Amino acid sequence: MIKVPHYVASISPYVPGKPVEELERELGISNSVKLASNENPLGPSPKAVEAINSSVTASLNRYPDGGSYYLREALAKKLQVNDDTLIFGNGSNELLDIAVKTFMEPGDDAIMAWPSFVVYPMAVQAVGCNGIKVDLTSDMRHDLNAMADAVTDKTRMIFIANPNNPTGTINTINEFDEFMERVPKDIIIVVDEAYYEYATDSQYADSMKHLRVGRNLLILRTFSKAYGLAGLRIGYAITLPEIANELNKIREPFNTSTPAQAAALAALEDDEHIKNSVESNAAGRDYLYAELDKLGVKYIPTHANFIFMLPGVDAAALNNALLKRGVIIRPMGEKAIRATIGLEEENKTFIRALEESMEEVG
Ligand SMILES: Cc1ncc(COP(=O)(O)O)c(C=O)c1O
Repeated sequence: MIKVPHYVASISPYVPGKPVEELERELGISNSVKLASNENPLGPSPKAVEAINSSVTASLNRYPDGGSYYLREALAKKLQVNDDTLIFGNGSNELLDIAVKTFMEPGDDAIMAWPSFVVYPMAVQAVGCNGIKVDLTSDMRHDLNAMADAVTDKTRMIFIANPNNPTGTINTINEFDEFMERVPKDIIIVVDEAYYEYATDSQYADSMKHLRVGRNLLILRTFSKAYGLAGLRIGYAITLPEIANELNKIREPFNTSTPAQAAALAALEDDEHIKNSVESNAAGRDYLYAELDKLGVKYIPTHANFIFMLPGVDAAALNNALLKRGVIIRPMGEKAIRATIGLEEENKTFIRALEESMEEVG
């Protein structure tokens, strides 16, 4: 018998997808299209790739820079913040874990919207705390009023994914400002902006404004999405220096690798690549909207690089039918699917496969 805390024993672990090559072998298909994990189909900036190569040849026998000195300097300049307000993580995912370990004690509550990023409840449960889930509004957005209503004496943290994964929806400046007025100042608000670069809507909430006036915010961003560096695992938080100081007590000293730091630094300097990525995403999004409209598939308008669809058929059956046709998406519960916006050819393949699959399972 292995002894495990009851709150760990009851976690359902994240089930990783199979490697694409293995899936292709099993299904007897080739040239599959992977639209399951909201990655940038253009890949990273060529400058980042160059930086990775030089960092690998130069210094793999050395530990990475535990303070991410050059990356920190460059990012602080870009964001116009002090360098002590930044903390880097092995993906922004690691920063979520560090945050709950730092600020929550067993029995505390964290409020989150649902459905939202699957990692929030797992991270909270892993430290013996309770994830309090608040349903999204009927238009699939965070119900910030209901989330503020849910606050009790036990609430230590609130997670807000903006844009939200899996729905791609945003909360507006006014909604977020009102929410910040209502929520007690001692609660840590984690604003997860993993898809920040794609959220170009003028009404998109301004979380930085609240940080500048000293609110307990942890704004999470990542190099995994628009920057196309998911495989390297690097993300960051912008926060108060006092909060960064506490998080650094829990952070592993060498948590981001040398190639990851080098790539992120080079990627930050390539605004053109981000611009192209966001434009390519917008073109793919508009194409998919038009085709989904033709097919009569309901979807939620997105502010990110994926689309949440309600095809009106069983999601698991649809997923299997799409897989047979070499298209890998993510089923979301019984009725919905989420697909990443791909390159032009990938989007066309997806739509062709979706049409056939809907006929097959409908
Ligand atoms: C909302 C959200 N937050 C955080 C992450 C984690 O990103 P990473 O750990 O790659 O920075 C993801 C990844 O899918 C996400 O969708």
